[in-house]
Amino acid sequence: MKIIVGSDHAGYSMKEKVKTFLQDRGIMVEDVGTYSEKSVDYPDFGKKVARKVSDGRFERGILICGTGIGMSMVANRFKGVRAALANDLFSAIMSRRHNNANILVMGGRLIGDTLALQLVDAWLETPFDGGVHQRRLDKLDVD
Ligand code: RB5
Repeated sequence: MKIIVGSDHAGYSMKEKVKTFLQDRGIMVEDVGTYSEKSVDYPDFGKKVARKVSDGRFERGILICGTGIGMSMVANRFKGVRAALANDLFSAIMSRRHNNANILVMGGRLIGDTLALQLVDAWLETPFDGGVHQRRLDKLDVD
């Protein structure tokens, strides 16, 4: 699997840990930045990740900002993107089982790195339940 990751300055340090965690598991990672704690604008990085998930170049992405809220907002504007803000284990698992989330969003200022890596692990391992949940996903898009 290949995963594309991105963050703003508030998520930079957590992104680096997530990247190492994924690479240690043999997962290929594309990191679109940011590459330091210098202040940047989260939409610039959210768009880079969401665009490549939306057009199919990547099956899954991970985005991190301070709260995760801004990154979720920008990512979910892209067609085919189902970005889930999950700062707890239940949400991370259910975002896969019921929502088939293709981008995991976390808040670097809300949770610790240990929990973040547990969320990433669970999110990667949990399959989509399908069935009635696919019917509901089919109703997400608006004209
Ligand atoms: C940056 O200060 C902060 O606004 C950003 O990381 C994010 O939390 C926005 O939703």
